[in-house]
Amino acid sequence: MNRSEAEREIRRLRRLMHHHDYRYYVLDAPEIEDAEYDAMFDRLRALEEAYPELVTEDSPTQRVGGAPREGFRTVEHVPPMLSLRAVYDEEALVAFDQSCRRALGREQIDYVAEPKYDGLAVELVYEGGRLVQASTRGDGYVGEDVTGNVRTIPSVPLVLHEEILPPPRRLVVRGEVYITRSAFAALNARREAEGEATFANPRNAAAGSLRQLDPRVTAARPLQIVLYQLVEATGISPRRQWDVLDRFLPAWHLRSPDEPKRLCNSVESLMAYYGEILEGRDDADVEMDGMVVKVDRLDYWTMLGTRSRDPRWAVALKFPARGAVTRVRDIVVQVGRTGRLTPLAMLDPVRIGGVTVRRASLHNRGEVMRKDIRIGDHVLVQRAGDVIPYVVRSFPDRRTGSEQPFVMPTKCPECDSTVVLSEDGRDDRCAFVGCPAQQKERIKHFASKGAMDIDGLGDKTVEALVDCGLVESAPDLYGLKLQDWVRLERMGEKSAQNIMEALEQSKGVELRRFLVALGIPLVGEHLARILAEHYPSVDALGRATEEDLLAIDGVGPEVARSVVAFFSDPRNREILQAFSRLGIAPRAQRVDRGGRAPLQGLTLVFTGRLERYSREEATRRAEALGARVTGSVSGETDYVVAGPGAGSKVARARSLGVPVLDEETFLAMIEEEA
Ligand code: IVH
Repeated sequence: MNRSEAEREIRRLRRLMHHHDYRYYVLDAPEIEDAEYDAMFDRLRALEEAYPELVTEDSPTQRVGGAPREGFRTVEHVPPMLSLRAVYDEEALVAFDQSCRRALGREQIDYVAEPKYDGLAVELVYEGGRLVQASTRGDGYVGEDVTGNVRTIPSVPLVLHEEILPPPRRLVVRGEVYITRSAFAALNARREAEGEATFANPRNAAAGSLRQLDPRVTAARPLQIVLYQLVEATGISPRRQWDVLDRFLPAWHLRSPDEPKRLCNSVESLMAYYGEILEGRDDADVEMDGMVVKVDRLDYWTMLGTRSRDPRWAVALKFPARGAVTRVRDIVVQVGRTGRLTPLAMLDPVRIGGVTVRRASLHNRGEVMRKDIRIGDHVLVQRAGDVIPYVVRSFPDRRTGSEQPFVMPTKCPECDSTVVLSEDGRDDRCAFVGCPAQQKERIKHFASKGAMDIDGLGDKTVEALVDCGLVESAPDLYGLKLQDWVRLERMGEKSAQNIMEALEQSKGVELRRFLVALGIPLVGEHLARILAEHYPSVDALGRATEEDLLAIDGVGPEVARSVVAFFSDPRNREILQAFSRLGIAPRAQRVDRGGRAPLQGLTLVFTGRLERYSREEATRRAEALGARVTGSVSGETDYVVAGPGAGSKVARARSLGVPVLDEETFLAMIEEEA
């Protein structure tokens, strides 16, 4: 390759990688496997090494923040950062007011109404009046440490103001980081002029900016903060939320919701406030997606308490979704993990609230019929907040006569088996458990991030494994040999080894994640966490009756039924046995938050052969002591424990300055601690 060819190729790769960075970091919707991306990166780097004069600052190889987000340390949130129950009409607000009044035995309650900011929740910790930590919400329990980045936000004081009210020894406050619409427009214009990918909306821009590994990048972004909750303040106990917003936070020069916020003593006055901010929504410079209503008296917060994920003392009345009219190009049918056939509307791309929408689920045949949606129809599509778009209605009066009614296929589009209609006549299912589409979806789910998180095992690979008959269900993955993996197209020996290592590593998975991975209908990450807190093992959970399950806070009748049904299905039992034969039998970790978790907060990677313990046993022990064990080395890794035969991970650790321990040293560390 000559110089000008290299130059062209370099430019092409950079363009491609910019695109994929954008999908991955900003939209959180990658289009390619990590391995594919890595290959591009390697190729680009090789070319730049051959032609160093072609290296430019904007090359992905020169981007300091180019490493994945795993590069942040984690921060535990105690108490967890909750979410707000969302309601959509006045009636629900009346019910909220009634339930608060009933629970408190009061005729009338004062509420604080605030805008619901559409940004990114953060927590700030000040000690001795100094900002010592800032973190993102993450999953509510564990977030990312973004202190260096938050320090660059001009509206965040690094030192609290002390003239009006001396700051407490320790202060924990929560709020929202966002970008105003005008700043967002300017930021995008600048990026466009500089040939960089633009952000889809202010919220993504704020999230992308806050999660930059290089604080200098964050510093160049117009981030804003508003704080709305006081979590802890040593020696200070305000009595009312209004005072927190109006007196305490401002006294320390912390930015709290300025106008509009309002003290209201009835649903009528809340609705009046809601009407005003809704009307001003499009003119306001800050993105709002509703009104937050909080009980004013803070002692009531304690009395009302919390239901599984959201407090009883607050509620969010959401603004109606923004919508747009577009056309249905086609309706295709997808087969899910449980065999359910879901019609999917393929739309003429349309922008709604800053995001381009191309498809929308139509859920089931009942929905298609009820809404009378035909191929070729004009339809109203909405996005509520930033959740999945959906089709609200069709416009029959705009039909030309060429529209085609949708017909649910009677044979599974993937395996040609008979499709069975559910009793209520709404759901269609492919009745064949061996349907490859179902197998694929179940295995993809098993390997996905919130579940077993098998690094390198992407959707395409899973599809290929099932297509060539190597794998039917998740346990089969563990029996594959190197020669099986490399049979797959575009699977090199190195990648295969990495996947096999990740699989091996995953045998020490936490119970909570394993429960997610099993794909029990209705059991997602949140419920899996609850179940793992109540049962020490999968076996124990499998023995639970509906009654046992119902006794758990946060578990309702449908979930209880679904769990019991799952474990009584012989096919699932067979799979569970296969897992336990493989040595996959995760147990709940009893991490005593008080003291006996010496590895708490540390992230470890094991590599190479261990002598004293098997990899799984070492993983289990480390996790029992509070560590997180991952498969790949990143800036977030605290230690790499390397045995004989370790290779690239040690090199990577060295290049990142991550300490590498041998097995003996590691054992000394845990045995001394344990
Ligand atoms: S209070 C226990 N106040 O909404 C709830 N949240 O769904 C504590 N949010 O993660 C939050 N504006 O990111 C509260 N004025 C406001 C808010 C607000 C936006 C976000 C926040 C939270 C989410 C909850």
